[in-house]
Amino acid sequence: MARRPVPGRRATFDAAPNIALVKYWGMRDVDRGLPFNSSLSVTLDRLRTRTSVRFDPALEADQFELNGVGLDGPPRAAVSRFLDRVRKAAGFESPAEVISTNNFQTASGLASSASGFAALAGAATAAAGLELSPRALSALARLGSGSASRSIFGGFVEWRAGVRPDGRDCYARPLYGPDHWPALTDVVALVEGAPEKSTRSAEAMQASVRTSPLYRRRQTAVPPRLARIRRAIRDRDAYLLFRLVIEECDEFRAVCESTDPPLDYLTDASREVLEAVDAMNAAAGRTIVGYTHDAGAHVHLFTLAADASRLRERLARIRGVARVLTLHPGPGARLVRIEG
Ligand code: PMV
Repeated sequence: MARRPVPGRRATFDAAPNIALVKYWGMRDVDRGLPFNSSLSVTLDRLRTRTSVRFDPALEADQFELNGVGLDGPPRAAVSRFLDRVRKAAGFESPAEVISTNNFQTASGLASSASGFAALAGAATAAAGLELSPRALSALARLGSGSASRSIFGGFVEWRAGVRPDGRDCYARPLYGPDHWPALTDVVALVEGAPEKSTRSAEAMQASVRTSPLYRRRQTAVPPRLARIRRAIRDRDAYLLFRLVIEECDEFRAVCESTDPPLDYLTDASREVLEAVDAMNAAAGRTIVGYTHDAGAHVHLFTLAADASRLRERLARIRGVARVLTLHPGPGARLVRIEG
């Protein structure tokens, strides 16, 4: 017999975006969301997605509201596909009302898909009365967006690619909490005119797998780099970390640019930010700032608290940098409340 949801129960969950220091880019199994390489990220403070879900048999179809606007088309379809998995696990078919707000600009490089699917996974399973361990919740979030698997946890998070075809050894795990390194600062340069993504990351990355001549070489470069980055975080070795983060970002960008057709996520302003960082590091004689970006135009600049104000002053001189955010490692996803 089909089960029914707890009528009227609304669950609300918070999750934050994360920025990858080692990028996930390409899946060995698209259906199971299994990546080719492991990745590592920092979950950020201050930014968050808050999502509430209520399953309601009286609804005709799923409803999805983002920042006060009801959405149809591909965004709602992606939410519905994700909810289908939750409904299947819970054993009922009721449509749901999903209300989501971001306290930051959606899309184009601030990883709203990571916080979005992490929050949706938490809210939907809680509303459905499912109790999942953080690891199981992360594995579910991964099926919405790979990077969402890391946003379940706070601080420094590794998503292990695993090798098993069934994916049982593929999971995200927290390495160090946000308090491990509070001085680590992420100064985010939000650039003007950052284009909305025209191709979803999930499709773009598979194009890189198929066509980038650099993709294979990257697969041998990532594991030792990830191990070095993990050790640099453990030892709070900032200048080593920043150097490796730049190396990783440059390789990710080279893979994107050598994809056919090329993937170019940066604007002139983003490029100017990267050049300004190179000049600052050259002048300092060591890597005092590490840059990275995801599949978007905004640039995340890692530095120590002591160098952050100098960096912000430099960014203020770049036309096309619309705003600067100063962020730190932050907490993982959490249940806010259950009503009804
Ligand atoms: O999680 P997705 O499908 O949005 O892909 C994320 C890809 C990158 O942000 C570029 C890298 C990463 O590991 O977050």
